[in-house]
Amino acid sequence: MNISIFGLGYVGCVGAACCARLGHYVIGVDVAVAKVAQINAGKPTIIEAQIGELVQEAYEQNRLEATTDVGDAVCRSEISLICVGTPSSKEGHLNLDYIFAVAKEIGEALRSKESFHIIAIRSTVLPGTNKRVGDLVAKESDKEEGKDFAVVSNPEFMREGTAVNDYLNPPFTLIGTDNTYAEAKMRELYTDIPGEFIVSDIATAEIIKYVNNTFHALKVTFANEIGSICKALAIDSHKVMDIFCKDTQLNLSPYYLRPGFAYGGSCLPKDTKALRTLAHDHYLNLPVINAIEASNEGQKRRVLEIIEAKGKRKIAILGLSFKPGTDDLRSSPSVDLAENLLGKGYLLRIFDRNVRLSQLTGTNADFINEALPHLNEIISDDLDTVLDDSEIIVIANKEKEFATLKERYPKRIIIDLVRQFDEVDYDGEYEGIAW
Ligand SMILES: NC(=O)c1ccc[n+]([C@@H]2O[C@H](COP(=O)([O-])OP(=O)(O)OC[C@H]3O[C@@H](n4cnc5c(N)ncnc54)[C@H](O)[C@@H]3O)[C@@H](O)[C@H]2O)c1
Repeated sequence: MNISIFGLGYVGCVGAACCARLGHYVIGVDVAVAKVAQINAGKPTIIEAQIGELVQEAYEQNRLEATTDVGDAVCRSEISLICVGTPSSKEGHLNLDYIFAVAKEIGEALRSKESFHIIAIRSTVLPGTNKRVGDLVAKESDKEEGKDFAVVSNPEFMREGTAVNDYLNPPFTLIGTDNTYAEAKMRELYTDIPGEFIVSDIATAEIIKYVNNTFHALKVTFANEIGSICKALAIDSHKVMDIFCKDTQLNLSPYYLRPGFAYGGSCLPKDTKALRTLAHDHYLNLPVINAIEASNEGQKRRVLEIIEAKGKRKIAILGLSFKPGTDDLRSSPSVDLAENLLGKGYLLRIFDRNVRLSQLTGTNADFINEALPHLNEIISDDLDTVLDDSEIIVIANKEKEFATLKERYPKRIIIDLVRQFDEVDYDGEYEGIAW
């Protein structure tokens, strides 16, 4: 198929060469005349492994050209991939000037185009940008989004240095769109690219790249901070991280990566504190590791704020232990929540089938006796007793028996800390802690 690529920098040049390799006819567009000339001479605009050969091959097979003429490029292509820069402003905001300049130009070009056109944004842009681009293109072209053209989000995941290989072997291809024709065309564009083809709503596709890159940055800084601690203790940090990475059950896995309530229990709070204090004793400044507990406390505060904002007094907490299937109450965030609510004078009832006060022993019993000395007066293993006259139901542990809660206890306020429900069809009020 014929495609135009706007911006012939890292993403655009690699995209142009790889799309030509996939058998498409590519028209590159850039405001930089020198880059256009380079492509038209069969030369890449960047230094990257394999890119020289690919651009040369596309040039020789007449599958790649470049121009500064936007109108011509748009009229001769079905899809325009936008790959222009989105730098930071001085204050750290995203500068979308280049994106909007291209959108305006494409809009003007579409005035004289009869057939449907797809604009795919490959540049990294914050949620909401596709919508603004769509509005701008509609205004400039005097055409209707969805009927005459579509704007889809198609984030790019390549890394410089391995860009060609990454482009041709992405972890997945993501298209954010609600337009079925555009989806089908984007599938066709990437037919020969391996990996899952995922279609999502536009905002989800827009935010993914930021989630990825923030996580990557977090990984780098976490590993570096662990390296600093290991160095201070004369432990080989690479040996440590080699072993760390072998755990694909908990460490490098989806585990612990679902937004929800704060962490707690007998290990995570204690052990992060111990490592942080050890680092402090070695005069190490480790901002990422130091911030973990503060972030976790913030998540607990968020629940209190949500409850307070509802203006009700009768609260039921479902789940007191730090996770389902255990009676361990030590450092459970639910216990903190209960303590805070009681301190603020709320009328509280608690349900947890796993917690039998008479059977608690050792540090677990000591902890709860100190934190909630009158727990026996407010805890029950009978759901009806706990929920009958409650105004707010806080689900703190995910349990099978809560699956029918919405039907059994209508017209309440449910505050879900564990994503008990995926569908939010409730005749009361439903609020998730982080969704
Ligand atoms: N570089 C990467 O590894 C990478 C990876 C994934 C995503 N991204 C994202 O992709 C986008 C592009 O990054 P890049 O590194 O390729 O940028 P770049 O600066 O290398 O290239 C941008 C190109 O856009 C051109 N341009 C600017 N205005 C234009 C216009 N009106 N019409 C046509 N061309 C125009 C510039 O002349 C330049 O050649 C950014 O949003 C970036 O965050 C980059």
